[in-house]
Amino acid sequence: MAGLSVKHLVGIKELSKEDINLIFQTADNFKSVINRPIKKVPSLRDITIANLFFENSTRTRLSFELAEKRLSADIVNFSAASSSLKKGETLIDTVNNILAMKVDMVVMRHPNPGAAKFLSEHVDSRIVNAGDGSHEHPTQALLDSYSIREELGEVKDKKVVIVGDITHSRVALSNIFCLKKLGAEVMVCGPATLIPKYIDELGVKVEYDLRKALEWCDVANMLRVQFERMEVNYFPSIREYTMLYGLDGDFLHSLPNKIVVMHPGPINRGVEITSDVADSDQSIILEQVENGVAIRMAVIYLLAEKIKRES
Ligand code: CP
Repeated sequence: MAGLSVKHLVGIKELSKEDINLIFQTADNFKSVINRPIKKVPSLRDITIANLFFENSTRTRLSFELAEKRLSADIVNFSAASSSLKKGETLIDTVNNILAMKVDMVVMRHPNPGAAKFLSEHVDSRIVNAGDGSHEHPTQALLDSYSIREELGEVKDKKVVIVGDITHSRVALSNIFCLKKLGAEVMVCGPATLIPKYIDELGVKVEYDLRKALEWCDVANMLRVQFERMEVNYFPSIREYTMLYGLDGDFLHSLPNKIVVMHPGPINRGVEITSDVADSDQSIILEQVENGVAIRMAVIYLLAEKIKRES
């Protein structure tokens, strides 16, 4: 079997369409494993993985940890808040010290864009990017496209709108790369201040009117406003944002088509979507979370296979 074309998962930009389809096929097998009474396989008994989280996370951290445990890997968890980074240790020194303990793979979330790529070029280990600042969040995009494929049969030719804070969102950029590689039509929609100037280079449609965007699409991915990455105000108030770019049940049911609603989490209920939308039968938010474990199992398994083949 031909494996992945990459040694690290730094971003979707570096993956081929064949890589993405291989990850999906592998995830199909693991999805059946995690729905069995015994949810574990012995595939990675000889692999040790360090999870390095320099930024807060609930879904991604737990999902990677569960994926690694389901594959029987040994794992160590590192949280920046309680580490010697506070004493001035550099990222490379921290990681090299962890690798000296014979770690094969590093899963890392970091606030700085490019941190995963930097690490992949400076330490001798496989790196999986679990989100680097406002740059990429590749496993989120993979699980999002996988969930669309599961819900609608395929991603090709589906119309997907990504709504909200496009400028600060690593989920948006990775989703754009992934959806376009799989042949979807992609639109972004949000306030002009939250649509980046380089958007034209990404080959997506841009719409500022949420009703027009939702009447066009098959799938709406409603993003959280990333207040923690904003140094200035990008819109007058949260209430105005919600009036113009929020989705509630009345709005959803007034649309001509029954669209699929997605959200990467964490949700600000009542800001980008209301509870009746988040919990409706058109929402696949919890399916996205479930699929995240199978996708992360597939990514780790395929990267570990490459280590075994090359050693
Ligand atoms: N979707 C996502 O990355 O969520 P967390 O920040 O909780 O990991």
